[in-house]
Amino acid sequence: MISDPAVIVLNYLFTLHAHFHTKMQVIKHINDLQTILDVKRKEGLSIGFVPTMGALHEGHLSLVRNAGQQTDFVVVSIFVNPTQFNDKGDLERYPRDLRKDTQLLTPTSCQLIFAPEVDEIYPEPDTRQFNFGPLEQVMEGKFRPGHFNGVAQVVSRLFDIVCPDKAFFGQKDFQQLAIIREMVRKLKLPVDVISCPIIRETDGLAMSSRNMLLTPEQRHNAVHISATLFEAVNKTAELSVEELCRWVVARINENEYLNTEYFEIVNEESLQPVRNWKDAGNKVGCIAVHCGKIRLIDNVVFRNT
Ligand code: PAJ
Repeated sequence: MISDPAVIVLNYLFTLHAHFHTKMQVIKHINDLQTILDVKRKEGLSIGFVPTMGALHEGHLSLVRNAGQQTDFVVVSIFVNPTQFNDKGDLERYPRDLRKDTQLLTPTSCQLIFAPEVDEIYPEPDTRQFNFGPLEQVMEGKFRPGHFNGVAQVVSRLFDIVCPDKAFFGQKDFQQLAIIREMVRKLKLPVDVISCPIIRETDGLAMSSRNMLLTPEQRHNAVHISATLFEAVNKTAELSVEELCRWVVARINENEYLNTEYFEIVNEESLQPVRNWKDAGNKVGCIAVHCGKIRLIDNVVFRNT
């Protein structure tokens, strides 16, 4: 009865299951992950790593794509790290959907998802204090005290666990990238930090897991943030740095849904505020805006002319 339709369907389902099973593994424990990665490394494969907090979107998937192009075996971690949330409400609200994330990653170059519980990463409280000097005294570091210490705790822990050859981060979190590069330098970690461009919605809003928490009206008005940044880039001939900063804040705050926390134009490397357009180096305009309870960040590069 080999041609029995039920057997054919069962066989098909089994093949399908086996396919997804070999294609995508969700690992919860460090020792299981390391057993697999040891084998991959012995096979001579390079390991690419994309740390995330889940609620994945095209921004995350672009990092996975880059990782697939530059390394042989791609690991994505999904872990909402409690130590980097200075606002408990933000931590509670943070969207979580491992099933959907797994589905999104299945057709990509990600070969393994590491999705640990909090105890796995922090069997005991992490008391390490990092010091990033001036890099963390501005913008996100200033307005979210302790945030980057938490980011450094979790990323250094994840790097220890995964030992990737290359790790991929988005320029959307511009200051985070600088902090991670500095951490890698200070701790002399053997990992290449690769930065990837910001991915935007078709209307320009920078993609973010937090966007899905916006009401339709808030989402509609949030586009005003990127639109203002894009306009600002064309105003460097007519306004000084200080005037442009004031212009951006006033323009965004005109919108009743938006309230700017900061807008700073900083040097791309030092992250210190720029005084003059003629100052050396590329400049980046970084912004944080409250849209109701949701806090959104974005940035734009002011290229030297
Ligand atoms: P998360 O916000 O999930 O972001 C994971 C990675 O995706 C980060 O490197 C972030 O910069 C990148 N990313 C987010 N939105 C993007 C976009 N629109 N375009 C391009 N890249 C984008 O950042 C974190 O998580 C955490 O702080 C983490 C590094 C995982 C440590 O907990």
